[in-house]
Amino acid sequence: MSHNKQVALVTGANRGIGFELVKQLALNGFRVILTSRDQEKGHEAAQSLKHSDLDVSFVQMDIDDQVSIHQASLIVKKTFGRLDVLINNAGVYLDENELLLTMDPSILEKTMSTNFFGVYHVIRSFIPLMEKRSYGRIINISSEYGMMNEMSERGVGAYKLSKLALNALTQLIAAEIQGDIKINAVCPGWVSSDMGGPAAPRTPKQAAESILWLATIGPDGPQGGFFRDGKPIDW
Ligand SMILES: NC(=O)c1ccc[n+]([C@@H]2O[C@H](COP(=O)([O-])OP(=O)(O)OC[C@H]3O[C@@H](n4cnc5c(N)ncnc54)[C@H](OP(=O)(O)O)[C@@H]3O)[C@@H](O)[C@H]2O)c1
Repeated sequence: MSHNKQVALVTGANRGIGFELVKQLALNGFRVILTSRDQEKGHEAAQSLKHSDLDVSFVQMDIDDQVSIHQASLIVKKTFGRLDVLINNAGVYLDENELLLTMDPSILEKTMSTNFFGVYHVIRSFIPLMEKRSYGRIINISSEYGMMNEMSERGVGAYKLSKLALNALTQLIAAEIQGDIKINAVCPGWVSSDMGGPAAPRTPKQAAESILWLATIGPDGPQGGFFRDGKPIDW
């Protein structure tokens, strides 16, 4: 196992798009840290990839829990000593048939806790590892539901707000970052995962393929952008 290999970490990677991202990063030569909030599911997912000789390690991390995020960052620092790519993939979609004015407010709070604050705390905890080497690529998995024009359509308010805030966070952090550290957001399209449902036209594999170019952009690559299939979205 080469320790000169770049190290990538994916949140919420025990299933769906996150699992595919881990697999493809490993196939492309990264040492990959598969994180999951559930110890058993995460361990099993990592083992299934290790059996195919892929360089994948499991670290438990619940992005709703700042202690868990901090502990995971300490493990990554101690075990790997670097982080080149961070993919904020973990997310929840809890308000499919709900309206903001009538839903239990806890749905909005829980959605913002995972899809917005979770990502914020993960970036804050892991960016020092990137700053140490003045290099990093951060990819936030967002959604076209987070575009401004979606805000005038009723429904899915909690999820839409969380992804709108995530897109804004991406731009704000891009404006603060120093060195060759890039942060961008991406919409994976409508994907046939547990979240997207079986009718979705795109597989997790296709979604991961449409995202991973952002993991290897050069110093002149985009900063603070929002993309789908490699094309910028004017949100
Ligand atoms: N599928 C789509 O059509 C679609 C479209 C646009 C954007 N997206 C975005 O793509 C990303 C991945 O979605 P997906 O379709 O792969 O969804 P998914 O199949 O439902 O998987 C979501 C993953 O996030 C994890 N997760 C949820 N809360 C977490 C927490 N607090 N800490 C750590 N992990 C947590 C889940 O873990 P558990 O197994 O423990 O629940 C699971 O591994 C999400 O950010 C989603 O918003 C998806």
